[in-house]
Amino acid sequence: MTDLVLTRDPGADPAADAADRWALDADWWRQAAVYQVYPRSFADSDGDGLGDLPGLTARIGHLAGLGIDAIWLSPFYPSALADGGYDVADYRDVHPQLGTLDDFDDLVAAAHAARIRVIVDIVPNHTSDLHPWFQAALAAGPGSPERARYIFRDGTGPDGSQPPSDWVSHFGGPAWTRVPDGQWYCHLFAPEQPDLDWSNREVRDDFLTTLRFWADRGVDGFRVDVAHALAKDLSEPLRSKTDVSGLNVPLDGSDPLFDRDELVEIYGEWRRLFNSYDPPRAAVAEFCARPERRYRVALPTSLGQAFNFDLLEADFDAEAFRRVITFCLDEVAATGSSSTWVLSNHDVLRHATRYALPAGTDLDAWLMTDGTTPAPDRARGLRRALAATTLMLALPGSAYLYQGEELGLPEVADLPVDRLEDPIWLRTGHTKKGRDGCRVPLPWTAEGASLGFGAGPGWLPQPAEFAAAAATAQDGVEGSPLEVYRAALRLRRELLTEERLSWVETGRADVLHLARPNGWHALTHFGDVDAEPYPLPAGVVRLATRPLVDGGLPGETTVWLTEGPQA
Ligand code: GLC
Repeated sequence: MTDLVLTRDPGADPAADAADRWALDADWWRQAAVYQVYPRSFADSDGDGLGDLPGLTARIGHLAGLGIDAIWLSPFYPSALADGGYDVADYRDVHPQLGTLDDFDDLVAAAHAARIRVIVDIVPNHTSDLHPWFQAALAAGPGSPERARYIFRDGTGPDGSQPPSDWVSHFGGPAWTRVPDGQWYCHLFAPEQPDLDWSNREVRDDFLTTLRFWADRGVDGFRVDVAHALAKDLSEPLRSKTDVSGLNVPLDGSDPLFDRDELVEIYGEWRRLFNSYDPPRAAVAEFCARPERRYRVALPTSLGQAFNFDLLEADFDAEAFRRVITFCLDEVAATGSSSTWVLSNHDVLRHATRYALPAGTDLDAWLMTDGTTPAPDRARGLRRALAATTLMLALPGSAYLYQGEELGLPEVADLPVDRLEDPIWLRTGHTKKGRDGCRVPLPWTAEGASLGFGAGPGWLPQPAEFAAAAATAQDGVEGSPLEVYRAALRLRRELLTEERLSWVETGRADVLHLARPNGWHALTHFGDVDAEPYPLPAGVVRLATRPLVDGGLPGETTVWLTEGPQA
């Protein structure tokens, strides 16, 4: 008699096998729907006005019901909030008002149980001025190893009272601040965000420790803040650079501040660390420089993926969308990466409002009029936003959604100026309002102190119109933004296939028609709402952001359909 060999029957427990496959899928990020959470504004569990991790954990059900694949958490680390948390005082802990490390572990467990991955934001270009390293640098004085972790220099001019170079801060004013002993330190953002010197081995090692810390806690990926600026040419004399747009950098990697070739080595080291995990940890770079060079940080040997903001910057226009989509897909096809798509995030005017304004509106100037001039056409903005989002969700690659866009939230352009917290407002001498208007606490219910955000008022006031946009007010309401998002994200799971699309010519300058290899189609009519409807091809309509008109696709509308006879 032979011994009985017990092997596990792979079909014995399909649920367990599916869970294993989910957990081990190394490619999950390639076509994920990633939902950005700005924790301070998501949900407040203890009534102190700031959103927190337990508040988010309690709402995982909303996100699971929405149908997203991952959350990306903007910084939740200890911080004096000089730049909404992008001034990190301790990279391996949780801001006490946002929770504890145990709360973080609970969040990851709840997210994973709902099959939602967790991406955290890493801010490597600069620390907070309250970080122990910067405090030590101030105490230790010129020439010390403590100062060598940052970029300290003597000033220019006979008495050193002029900054070491002409570099300017993204938030306005010089990128240098003087300390009491006379030296200056560099900060590409606020003075509370001193830049690190990435040619210093100790800095590199410390970030590897931080990445390992979070990866060991079960984090699935990292969003890398200001990924284009870590490496700098600090050789003397410092070279001139006053353009912070990032778009005019040379293509040979020789700009003094952005997109330098040394980044490849820095992120190559990170990638080796990520690949030591199973599945490898994912990463996406915030990369603001020439699109032609984005691929270098998006290579599989580097971070793997880079944001592109091209769609976000495009007008609501068929030709502009087609150009961006074609360019981005060609770019990733050549590199092994997958594309990213973004229409809103915590740094820009919400797209339901952008599309409500005439193309070419100066958005900073518009904010300074409290959002009155020109008057936004809100209904049009929302129609276009849903059409653009559902087009984006039909594309190969990963789609990044920003909290509240599923409710169709507008930008809050008339916040009382004494409540504004964005350093841009302060640093520009109150000539630019900045980004608070897209960071207003979310409305969960139509009533309550802060519409269900928390037990008391939120850190920024919500406008009256948020009540009608509350999640509970939209739940089950056909055609509401929330139900359109839910339907699209559910159907997206069927729509996803190989990372390719083909364009179907429409003969119309205002209609785009794309087809995925598995027979799913998306058509978007970019014309005005009363433009001539576009006759739909044969197929089964699976999703429409607005009702069809005589069986045709009206303006400012997207449909998804599958090939086959009408049911
Ligand atoms: C990134 C963040 C932004 C922040 C800046 C400085 O651009 O998205 O919110 O202000 O970096 O960290």
